Amino acid sequence: MNDPTDRAAFVTGAARGIGRAVALRLAAEGRTVFAADRDLPEPAPGVRPVAVDVTDCEALGAAIAEADDAVPLDVLVNNAGIGFAEPLATMTPERFDLLMAVNVRAVYFGIQAAAAVMAPRGRGSIVNLASTSAFAASGSPMTAYDTSKGAVRMMTTTVARELAPAGLRVNAVAPGTIDTDLTRSIAADQAALDELVARRIPLGRLGVPSDIAAAVAWLASDEAAYVTGQTLVVDGGRLT
Ligand code: NAI
Repeated sequence: MNDPTDRAAFVTGAARGIGRAVALRLAAEGRTVFAADRDLPEPAPGVRPVAVDVTDCEALGAAIAEADDAVPLDVLVNNAGIGFAEPLATMTPERFDLLMAVNVRAVYFGIQAAAAVMAPRGRGSIVNLASTSAFAASGSPMTAYDTSKGAVRMMTTTVARELAPAGLRVNAVAPGTIDTDLTRSIAADQAALDELVARRIPLGRLGVPSDIAAAVAWLASDEAAYVTGQTLVVDGGRLT
């Protein structure tokens, strides 16, 4: 039951950061991994790059169906996400819509496409990337981003209930501050990150992508067979 070698995972936003670490981790466990991104991911053993912009729901659905035709999918990781610190006063409808298209709509329709191929087989695990900002406001003004991650958290809860009768599990991981390009694009500078660690992160360091990949891999695995609808916080104690 635990042999993943004849199965595949589809991971979005897998060119770098957390998504890349998730793809490499799942591939190391023996799965074929379809690594999807708008920037074509580099190939690696067991990792097949897929070019897709997740804001194009039809293209995302087609990519998931095509991957499943090649190797049956039992895991989808909705990791692609964007974030920017933007005060309410300067946000535009266009930027708000883009943020929601990547962080919320693509997660919803990714789940729809994956469920369509997984449900007939009666097994599958979907893991979404939420954030600690689904629980508590980000330090910088990021109302739109925090709203999108709150939506991912609630979507995870609700769709888990909807898909449970089909034998599918849906969970989320809520990372704290992980050392990736996204984090460095938002943080003012290294000193700001050092101060954040000192003041807000009890375990005394930023997270690294492999911290998140480990949690995703566990939720994806049969070890978590009785876990669904949960958002697992992986934040070095930040929310404590
Ligand atoms: P990142 O910016 O380093 O990587 C994101 C990846 O998603 C990139 O490869 C990018 O090309 C891809 N992507 C963005 N828009 C896309 C689109 N429209 N279509 C296809 N691919 C697209 O981000 P990071 O830090 O690895 O974050 C991954 C996920 O984890 C995101 O959902 C993010 O919101 C979430 N997260 C990250 C935290 C952090 O501290 N880094 C904290 C909490 C959540």
